[in-house]
Amino acid sequence: MTAHQRIDDSVVQLAHGPAWANRYALAPMTNKQSHDDGTLAAVLAEQAGFDGVEVHGAHGFLLAQFLDQRNQRRDGYGGTLEHRMRALVEVLTGIRAATGDGFQVGIRLSPEAKGSPLDEGREVARQILSSEVVDFVDMSLRDVYATPHYNGDGGLLIDAFTDLPRGETVLSVTGHVLSAEDAAWCLAKGAVVVGIGVGAILHHDFANRALADPNCKARPQPVSRDVLRAELVGSAFMDYLAADWDGLVA
Ligand SMILES: Cc1cc2nc3c(=O)[nH]c(=O)nc-3n(C[C@H](O)[C@H](O)[C@H](O)COP(=O)(O)O)c2cc1C
Repeated sequence: MTAHQRIDDSVVQLAHGPAWANRYALAPMTNKQSHDDGTLAAVLAEQAGFDGVEVHGAHGFLLAQFLDQRNQRRDGYGGTLEHRMRALVEVLTGIRAATGDGFQVGIRLSPEAKGSPLDEGREVARQILSSEVVDFVDMSLRDVYATPHYNGDGGLLIDAFTDLPRGETVLSVTGHVLSAEDAAWCLAKGAVVVGIGVGAILHHDFANRALADPNCKARPQPVSRDVLRAELVGSAFMDYLAADWDGLVA
């Protein structure tokens, strides 16, 4: 069985989805193996001493594949948005029920994708934010200053999410935050948490620097291996960054 082979209407392989994701989609949802695996992983993380988990519902990974409009499975997990959201909701409620009250449960979502237009991305976020099933929603915006790629009215992507009612649920945004000013801009927009990726590779203490100095900016890229080594980046990870991340490693 190849990753791109189509079985019935249930298999959707997205451009950014990992090849192995389809093995779940091939099976009927009656035994909910992927739900059980997700819950078990979270329980093991809690037992191992972690404070929480972030479930991946973005970037074409398994749960994002369920959300995609091209998911037309007929077993209650495809077709209408309610049905396409069912796997996501069941995984989150399963983890919530199986872990302790203080255990942080979050979900990473894409704002939009091919097969998941922005209005649906907003609706998914709205339902999750208002359901109180998670402690935080991490909107993976690629670039916090980005406008919609697929559709939209020309406004900023971030604005489609910061105005949603969210009770106690924390809204986090991620994407190209490389200065204290960027982070402050996200907070002023209404986010409560700002996720840092590349910035924290360039400076192991990026968050503390940004909190201490409102003018703090990440160093320009690319950077030498010596600089990365001084920032405590290991050599295997450096090789990975050099091979897979354009313009980061000189
Ligand atoms: C080395 C590296 C690995 C990443 N791996 C993942 C990943 O496995 N899953 C994911 O959703 N995002 C991944 N990302 C994306 C980040 O979570 C983040 O959304 C993205 O880099 C934008 O934020 P940034 O500009 O602050 O890095 C990765 C980013 C980097 C730099």
